[in-house]
Amino acid sequence: MRVQLNARNRAFRYEASAGEKILYAGLRAQAGLPYECATGTCGTCKAKLVEGEIEDAWPEAPGRRFIKPERGEFLMCQCAAAGDVSVEVASFVYPSDPAECRVAAWRGTVGALRALTHDVSAFDVELDAACEFDAGQFMAVSAPGVRGMRGYSMVNFAQPARRLEFLVKKKPGGGFSEWLFSKRAAGARIELVGPLGKATFHPALGKNVLCIAGGSGIAGMMSILARAAAARYFERHDGWVFFGVRTMRDAFFLEELSAFKSDRLEITLALSEEDAGAQTLRRWPRLRFERGLVHEVAKRAMTSKYRDVRAYLAGPPPAVEAAIRVLLLEAKLTADCIRYDKFS
Ligand SMILES: Cc1cc2nc3c(=O)[nH]c(=O)nc-3n(C[C@H](O)[C@H](O)[C@H](O)COP(=O)(O)OP(=O)(O)OC[C@H]3O[C@@H](n4cnc5c(N)ncnc54)[C@H](O)[C@@H]3O)c2cc1C
Ligand code: FES
Repeated sequence: MRVQLNARNRAFRYEASAGEKILYAGLRAQAGLPYECATGTCGTCKAKLVEGEIEDAWPEAPGRRFIKPERGEFLMCQCAAAGDVSVEVASFVYPSDPAECRVAAWRGTVGALRALTHDVSAFDVELDAACEFDAGQFMAVSAPGVRGMRGYSMVNFAQPARRLEFLVKKKPGGGFSEWLFSKRAAGARIELVGPLGKATFHPALGKNVLCIAGGSGIAGMMSILARAAAARYFERHDGWVFFGVRTMRDAFFLEELSAFKSDRLEITLALSEEDAGAQTLRRWPRLRFERGLVHEVAKRAMTSKYRDVRAYLAGPPPAVEAAIRVLLLEAKLTADCIRYDKFS
């Protein structure tokens, strides 16, 4: 299927295979198309059908509240071309930066699940072929028998990587969660598209780094910390990690975070529903513990430290939005210094 995509500044022409989403095919063809979640919730990938027919795989997608279907608008991450199509995107679109990791479709095998808390588990995917990704990126993942794709951030970092590590917070009744936490997942073959996302870290950044993660949002931060540690980044720059959970029962990766801690990298657990007890403080001497919502804890600790900072935010949308407000309104960071993934 041929896709003719007319953006505000230029046109792109690319091939999409049967059933392939117009967004994924465009990214694969190195058109820097607009998207955020890549999975139907945010509305960022809005486009307009000018000619031809499309198939909408998820007509109930929450992201459709941002479009006007009566005007031919649709979500590129949910729709595939049903023949040759011509579509329009209202924004400027540029070719992807050749230095970015190439988006492609992958297949892999799921390894055994490892419980991190009562409702968070990690799992590995052994890819059939090695892939390159930047620290902080995610994959759109599809599992057998589960409709649609889900975004999951890579926890590890290697370049190239045959093994991708992910963590998933169980959502009761959630399609992917129920599949993953069932006995069917280990050994299953899954499909992935990526790497995706712009909340990327590279040691050439040359700025101080602030990470604010709510719950499972710590996934991509672990990849960033691994990349930074390998480059001894925090010998030359300052870093602050704020990891928000409700109680110590919900906390994980504390060994790994303690190992990342260094003179110039401070790591704080924000506990929203309890104080850290004396035993916790004794057990984790390299970590700081504060009571409060993660964006409030970060706001208190970061006052007057925002010079030359790149901020990375991830987690549930309310936590990310609250942190964005702090960074824009209180810290006066400009939008280009803030990278985020809303786990919607
Ligand atoms: C950029 C990004 C990174 C993320 N990283 C992580 C992470 O590292 N760890 C983590 O735990 N969570 C992460 N999430 C959230 C994750 O993608 C899922 O939303 C979450 O795990 C719940 O999935 P579920 O299938 O259990 O729940 P469900 O409620 O079944 O599905 C949740 C999401 O799946 C998609 N979806 C559902 N039904 C359909 C359908 N019929 N057709 C098409 N799509 C459908 C939608 O995007 C929906 O919001 C991330 C989300 C995004 C956007
Ligand atoms: S990128 Fe398509 S709805 Fe978010």
